[in-house]
Amino acid sequence: MNVLEIAVLPGDGIGKEVMPEALEVLRCIAQIHGGIRFDFVEFPWNCEYYCETGKMMPDDGLDTLAGFNGIFLGAVGDPRLVPDHISLWGLLLKIRKGFRQTINLRPAKQLKGVASPLVNPKNFDLIVVRENSEGEYSEIGGRIHQGEDEVAIQNAVFTRKGSEAAMRYAFELAQKRSGHVTSATKSNGIYHTMPFWDQIFKEVQTDYPEVKTSSYHIDALAAFFVSRPQLFDVVVASNLFGDILTDLGGAIMGSIGIAPSININLDGKYPSMFEPVHGSAPDIYGKGIANPVGQIWTAKMMLDYFGEEELGTALLQVIEDVMESGIRTADVGGTASTQEVGDAIRERLHRLN
Ligand code: NAD
Ligand code: IPM
Ligand code: MN
Repeated sequence: MNVLEIAVLPGDGIGKEVMPEALEVLRCIAQIHGGIRFDFVEFPWNCEYYCETGKMMPDDGLDTLAGFNGIFLGAVGDPRLVPDHISLWGLLLKIRKGFRQTINLRPAKQLKGVASPLVNPKNFDLIVVRENSEGEYSEIGGRIHQGEDEVAIQNAVFTRKGSEAAMRYAFELAQKRSGHVTSATKSNGIYHTMPFWDQIFKEVQTDYPEVKTSSYHIDALAAFFVSRPQLFDVVVASNLFGDILTDLGGAIMGSIGIAPSININLDGKYPSMFEPVHGSAPDIYGKGIANPVGQIWTAKMMLDYFGEEELGTALLQVIEDVMESGIRTADVGGTASTQEVGDAIRERLHRLN
């Protein structure tokens, strides 16, 4: 029996609406399959918790989470209550950095039953490997002077280890896919970090001579995601570039509400974290219309990660069947509620049995 102890952090906004649907889906899979069990322990760490305690999680929050096999997260952020940089650095980024989740995997491909907004999407199937723990996301810098001379300085930190780890991961992944890695750069305008990134990319590629490589500046690359997404197999990007590219990845699939992701701790010393690409969507929170597919597809990635690929494949197939049947939320052209999509997925899972 594969017993998985999973810390559940629904977080804020629609995180609290899509998480229950995904948990029910996983419970349903465990019930049908029998060979797997999930022990979910939920933590109420979010912006309301911050308002009550002055913290996004307790001081020993990371110690608590370290004891789990994995972390399943909804979305964090309620800018009406807490400034975003405080809430995100206090929880999500603290976990990613604290648990050395250096790799963030974010696939984007055409899902059956979900219309891409692209004129000619032609079966694109790509995955972004995002460096997830450093780069442009740093606390180094500050503000100086006052008034009209005021200046904010933000330093980006690129380590050889961090960039190389993301790139090696991308090359190894490409070997199992179509054998093509594209690097997202901006070495024409960013003076220090991006030429360093390019240099490491060139060095790493010599170890994988059979893998085809390309390198595009991030601005052109973003345009190609829209005009020719079929160009891409594995795309390796720095933290910020990967962040931006993957909302775009969601958009070309049809909605960022369906895009999944996993944050991987490579050395196995800490748990990895599973979370959809989207945020807490305050503009639709409370209406029951959030798309739960991003969270449920993320559950599929979690099943794959824990060696249950057969179940993961079956789950994605069921998601596609439900989308094709027309039971979809408004962001992907339907009228169903969050719960109706979850129910339809669970019903089909039961039918498979
Ligand atoms: P967002 O992803 O929350 O929303 C962007 C747009 O996409 C909105 O119009 C929203 O309604 C829509 N959308 C997102 N998810 C959807 C879903 N599942 N179904 C249907 N529509 C969906 O991005 P934002 O508005 O920039 O951020 C809102 C808050 O979320 C902020 O506090 C931000 O910092 C936070 N955020 C958190 C995470 C995370 O925890 N991983 C990720 C992104 C943003
Ligand atoms: C994401 C989010 C986060 C990021 C924010 C909320 C800090 O946009 O997971 O994509 O930029 O990584
Ligand atoms: Mn993002």
